Amino acid sequence: MSAEIKPEVKKISFEEIKKHSDRSSNWIVINNDVFDVTEFLDKHPGGEEVLIEQAGQEATEAFEDVGHSSDARAMMEQYKIGTLVDSERKPDLPKKSDPEWKESSGSSDVSWKSWIVPIAFGFVATVIYRLYFMS
Ligand code: HEM
Repeated sequence: MSAEIKPEVKKISFEEIKKHSDRSSNWIVINNDVFDVTEFLDKHPGGEEVLIEQAGQEATEAFEDVGHSSDARAMMEQYKIGTLVDSERKPDLPKKSDPEWKESSGSSDVSWKSWIVPIAFGFVATVIYRLYFMS
């Protein structure tokens, strides 16, 4: 019986990442993780050019701006080679795919009020009509 040893996540600095900044070796940084996308260049649905533009540098903003799907995020895992050294990490950016309704709590209250007013108005109009015209 052999216990499975989880390999340590490799810590990589920008000094190292910068050396992999073209088509022959292309590393990019997204949300503090480092990806070797060299093999992925010709498979990327968004084309290789955008990845080559980001090669050897921070690509979080460009990646999030596109609004990549959860499939794309799952796909990234296979290209991950490590994570940024602690001194070069940035606070995580909010993911664009987070649902926006999370921030707007209380909106259901507003919609409830928007239909109770016409209903009350209709009720009052009916009562007045009955009092004056049906007696
Ligand atoms: C390991 C990193 C990446 C993976 C696994 C990945 C994967 C994908 C996938 C699967 C799609 C198809 C659409 C979707 O499912 O969202 C896509 C589209 C795209 N990606 Fe990436 N991507 C990566 C990095 C990047 C970066 C760094 C950029 C920088 C600009 C980028 C720009 C685009 C663009 C422009 C599209 C086309 C969007 C469209 O046609 O609507 N991607 N990517």
